[in-house]
Amino acid sequence: MTPLEKIIIEDIRANGPMRLDRYMGLCLGHPEHGYYMRRDPFGRAGDFTTAPEISQMFGEMMGVWLADSWLKMGSPECVILLECGAGRGTLMADALRATKNVRGKHQTFHEAIDLHFLEISPTLRQMQEKAVSDFGATWHADLESLPNDLPVLIIGNEFLDALPVRQMVLGETGWAEKHININENDTLCLVNGEAQIEAKKLIVNGLLPYKLGDHIEVSPELNLTVSKIAKIISKQRGSCLLLDYGFNQNIAGDTLQAVMNHSYCSVTDSPGEADLTAHVNFSALTNLLMEEKMTVHGPVSQGDFLNRLGIGLRAEKLTQTALGSQNQKQAEDIRLALKRLTGQNTKAGEMGNLFKAIAFSNDPNIDLAGF
Ligand SMILES: C[S@@+](CC[C@H](N)C(=O)[O-])C[C@H]1O[C@@H](n2cnc3c(N)ncnc32)[C@H](O)[C@@H]1O
Repeated sequence: MTPLEKIIIEDIRANGPMRLDRYMGLCLGHPEHGYYMRRDPFGRAGDFTTAPEISQMFGEMMGVWLADSWLKMGSPECVILLECGAGRGTLMADALRATKNVRGKHQTFHEAIDLHFLEISPTLRQMQEKAVSDFGATWHADLESLPNDLPVLIIGNEFLDALPVRQMVLGETGWAEKHININENDTLCLVNGEAQIEAKKLIVNGLLPYKLGDHIEVSPELNLTVSKIAKIISKQRGSCLLLDYGFNQNIAGDTLQAVMNHSYCSVTDSPGEADLTAHVNFSALTNLLMEEKMTVHGPVSQGDFLNRLGIGLRAEKLTQTALGSQNQKQAEDIRLALKRLTGQNTKAGEMGNLFKAIAFSNDPNIDLAGF
């Protein structure tokens, strides 16, 4: 039994079954035993790999998008660059390296940047600090402490999928909310809550009709976070780019998953030791952004987005350099990374189709790159 499992069992004994979003929040963010609190979960020795960890090309393309967006905003003299959930800081380090020669009307892109991170993990904050050590940055636990008087550029890769979800399942008697409870073996299990919930109250952001057994997922925290970002952009002007895995149409489904050592496990198996994520509903996200009066670009598949930003050309250039120094292995690695990041074969682990990119800004006249 993990230390967090003990804490959760005691909580359930005292207070009754625990709502799924609270469980997920504790598993990922419990101050002492939360999954992200003390570990580096990335890479072969960790639990999963993300796009920036696959190849420098991903972060470089994010740099292209950020610099292009800054130029299209009129290259303001000072801009807040915020990354949400930055992992090891690899994306930002690659993005900054790729943009060091970009110049605007008054100064370089780098001179304009005031760098910030939104990050819950103390371990990952330290890694981010090292990754951008030449630059200097400020870290935040929430969006409220971000400076409130400057234009913003905000980016997040695989950030939204870490935000806790609620799940409802449609049974004979109505919608029941999934909870975590204790079974006869004194271990954790998923149960349908007793409370019947009026579907109307839960069907948000334009979700469509269902059949018995269907699940819907809603993340109040995701909705709140994205609304806050939109309000910052409305007030201070700017743009935001979010990439994540998810779906475009409203499809009812149970997408909550647990991953440990690069394999799936049960959501209740090892609280605090497995990564828990849920797919992002990009259709609901688009509706939310429209309600916030944002100009929305996409969603488009990650493959299309990266191709439009020029990842193919970048791969070619890197391949020529590798071959120029007789490094066949490196050239092959570049080819494989490009395929993994942009390829359509989800079953083979290619990310081009499963992952989507969405961007939004306050200015309907700005044509953000990649869409
Ligand atoms: C799956 S990782 C993605 C990391 C990185 N963007 C990448 O692509 O490699 C999720 C990141 O979000 C952070 N995170 C999770 N929940 C968060 C929250 N509520 N607030 C801020 N950061 C959070 C994690 O610590 C981690 O850095």
